[in-house]
Amino acid sequence: MAVVTSTTAPQTTQEPTGPWDNIRLPEDLVPINYVVDLRPDLEPDANGKNWFTGTSEVFMDVNTATNHIYIHSNKLNYSRVEPRGPGVSITTSLAMNGDWWLHSGYQYLIIPLMTDLTPGTRVSLYTEFEGELSDDLGGLYRSKYTDASGNQVTIATTQMQPTDARKAFPCFDEPALKATFDISLWHKPPNFAISNMPVMANESMTGGWVKSTFEQTPKMSTYLLAFVVCDFDWVENTTIGEIQTRIYARPDQVLQGNADYASDITPEILKHFEQYFNVSYPLPKSDQIAVPDFAAGAMENWGLVIYRETALLYNPDINSASNKQRVAAVVAHELAHQWFGNLISPLWWDELWLNEGFASYVEYLGTDHVEPTWRMNDQFIVSDLQRAFGVDGLTTSRPIVAENVNTPDEINALFDTISYSKGACIIRMINEFVGEEAFKLGLKNYLDAFAYGPVNHNQLFEYWEQAQIDVGTAPPPNGFRADMDTWMLQMGFPTVNMKRQSPTSTSVLISQERFLLDATANPLEPTSPYAYKWTIPLWWKTQNDAAKTLDWVELTGTPAPVTVPTTEYFLGNYEAFGYYRVNYDDDNWNKIIQQLLTDFSVIDVRTRGQLLNDAFNLARAGKLNYNIALDLTEFLQYDYDYITWESALDELSYFDLVLGRSKVYGPYSDYLAYLVTNVYNNLTWVDDGEHLEQYQRINAIGAACTYGVPGCVENATQQFTEWYTTGTNSITPNLRTTVYCHTLANSGSEEWDFVWEMYQNESNSQEKAKLQYALTCTQTPWIVRRFLDYVLDETYVRSQDASSILEDLCYNEYARDITWDYIRQEWSNIYNIYGTTFFSFSGIISSCTSHFSTEFELQELQEFKQDNIDQLGSGLRATDQAIESTRTNIQWRAANEESVYTWLTNKMAEINAP
Ligand code: BES
Ligand code: ZN
Repeated sequence: MAVVTSTTAPQTTQEPTGPWDNIRLPEDLVPINYVVDLRPDLEPDANGKNWFTGTSEVFMDVNTATNHIYIHSNKLNYSRVEPRGPGVSITTSLAMNGDWWLHSGYQYLIIPLMTDLTPGTRVSLYTEFEGELSDDLGGLYRSKYTDASGNQVTIATTQMQPTDARKAFPCFDEPALKATFDISLWHKPPNFAISNMPVMANESMTGGWVKSTFEQTPKMSTYLLAFVVCDFDWVENTTIGEIQTRIYARPDQVLQGNADYASDITPEILKHFEQYFNVSYPLPKSDQIAVPDFAAGAMENWGLVIYRETALLYNPDINSASNKQRVAAVVAHELAHQWFGNLISPLWWDELWLNEGFASYVEYLGTDHVEPTWRMNDQFIVSDLQRAFGVDGLTTSRPIVAENVNTPDEINALFDTISYSKGACIIRMINEFVGEEAFKLGLKNYLDAFAYGPVNHNQLFEYWEQAQIDVGTAPPPNGFRADMDTWMLQMGFPTVNMKRQSPTSTSVLISQERFLLDATANPLEPTSPYAYKWTIPLWWKTQNDAAKTLDWVELTGTPAPVTVPTTEYFLGNYEAFGYYRVNYDDDNWNKIIQQLLTDFSVIDVRTRGQLLNDAFNLARAGKLNYNIALDLTEFLQYDYDYITWESALDELSYFDLVLGRSKVYGPYSDYLAYLVTNVYNNLTWVDDGEHLEQYQRINAIGAACTYGVPGCVENATQQFTEWYTTGTNSITPNLRTTVYCHTLANSGSEEWDFVWEMYQNESNSQEKAKLQYALTCTQTPWIVRRFLDYVLDETYVRSQDASSILEDLCYNEYARDITWDYIRQEWSNIYNIYGTTFFSFSGIISSCTSHFSTEFELQELQEFKQDNIDQLGSGLRATDQAIESTRTNIQWRAANEESVYTWLTNKMAEINAP
């Protein structure tokens, strides 16, 4: 998930007012082609800074008469700005009406002209400029690493999305304004340059420079450009269509074979997507590179995807199954964008979900293709469906198609769970009801129709609507677009209630209501064009049905009841393709619970996971008695599956958060220790079995150690000690995080210092991430406090990692108070260091406040908001969400703490009874 934020908000200026006081460019000028030449100098100046110089000429067609050229530009210093035209080969300078100037608010370079440009002509803008290759991870920036012989090496790399191409050269930096690009990059051997397209020519220049010129790109958006100058090595592979694929990384990483996995799967995934979309890979080559400093996980630049190392490199000897899955999933996600996002791109950022939701969905198809035993389709419900429900049940959520996107901050804030996970969920739901054939046909025709152009969701939906007609699958009752817009244009999602008219009736009544986690929130706020009703594909089945049935629950009117024999239970949203929860009458819930206890395996595993997720959330929302949700956990002592346990642990973690300091925590941890004992004993510490069994072993051992199953922490500590004393780490990669963390949680500074030292010297990024996480597990206050000082010091911690350390500390019951105090105290400082770059302000705020559940904490949070209202950056929405969840947590404790306590103490008494 995205971690990038930027905080360049428009400021009030004394600059002339005009049409440029707008985040959107006018349609007067249309860029056609850019010729861009950049020279990143990797030798630092006397102050340790690095710089790049460049020239650019952008050719534009004049649509409407205008006496201004304005174009995006940020943090560039110009030595020459020259409008030229009109004509085909443009050499004449156009007279300026006074000086060009820079609009700081919306980041424009504005050039006033003496005379209006003539519609139908072509003009150009030639510029010479300089910019800093800074450490801010945006635009063209520098990244550093220590090579195998201990030397510091600097490379130049880029991250443009969403609005930083303008930081590398002046450009019309909006996704719809596609153009072709002729790029050249200067470098000094042994460094070389790579970009979106293959190198066409290398030319020796004075001063030891070589200029690499690249083939012209197809028509593309500026945010997908990529430029890298480095000394890396690579591994190479080809696909059937002779597309050359390369994985670039630091030389020692390539030497250790860490790029091999990505290199093996890339051609397979590309081929699969070519077949799936039925559209060839659009470029002559596919490069992927792992750079040492990177703000997001990865970026889908066309033909040159850039990753953070943990998302591309994998070493089977020291990295875990989930490290491997991360690589496969991110590679699949970014390669999916090569079509979805790159070949076609959203008209404007408000439809970002078209990119991210789509890639987040097909990432499962791509990963499943190369790793069919990983049960990716089952994993979807915990990784995306339940994640989306988690934020979309709050009144502070937003519609998928965003409103009010007026600043770069607001653009950045769209890289959220709604665009990614909810987007993926809606596409998956559509896939299920339109059927595979119509789904693919619609996509294919849509890609063909809009290739190299901009799109919006209406166009996609039109093509699926048509494909349903062509293939003959039943459309939604009021037409595809009308019905699907109920999911696009309003936030939230429904609960479908399926309740027998009476316990003895065979008639099950169906109704819908908006799901809101906060039982006291106004269900009609904020206003929605559909008043929070949806057109719902309700998949359901009775106990004895072999397969699920689809019935539509419409936006208006009362759905017809369905018939179910009184002796049978029924299940809604069977297989969890729907983006809605289901609630039942108590009798049906109890029948389901009985079934799970006698033979859980007759109910599909996604459904089992979703039952747990629905029950706990409905209970939290005051729509279901907590006794039922808790009764539903009892079958977990028999069901060892990762999907069910992960679903349960995700919801139970709420108890850990808000009840961590309550008397409830005693019987709660006893009950969990009881539940997990079977699976813990069954899976043992021996790290074998299928992928998800390996995942589940981590859950089982983690829960066993956390809730006090005898011997667990001792076992972890013993494995750690062996490493600590012998210097040889023979802990299986899958269990390293757990072993490290539980050892550091239960030991002192010697062990912590040992891990800290290992962390400083570790060159494998995934291993480093495990060590980093372990450091956040300490329960010793002074160690936490000392760590906090290290975190913001770039000599110890890469800036890309700082926010996740703070988040992890905040999830540690023993560290969170110290951490939050520190963050509040240092907020201005943190904001000044990271504020104008990238940093997950929203992540920090939500992680560090997620346990808030008292009036006092609420007050504190409100004060925090007031004190920092001007410097919350993209954390503003997160702060509002935090205030809302604190309120609901307070109410939750008042309403449920006692009854949960009673259930748990009774259950433990029953279990412990002789
Ligand atoms: N387009 C994004 C990268 C991005 C994120 C750019 C935020 C600008 C702001 C990329 O496709 C992406 O989604 N990357 C994910 C990984 C993916 C597997 C979910 C990421 O960076 O975490
Ligand atoms: Zn993406």
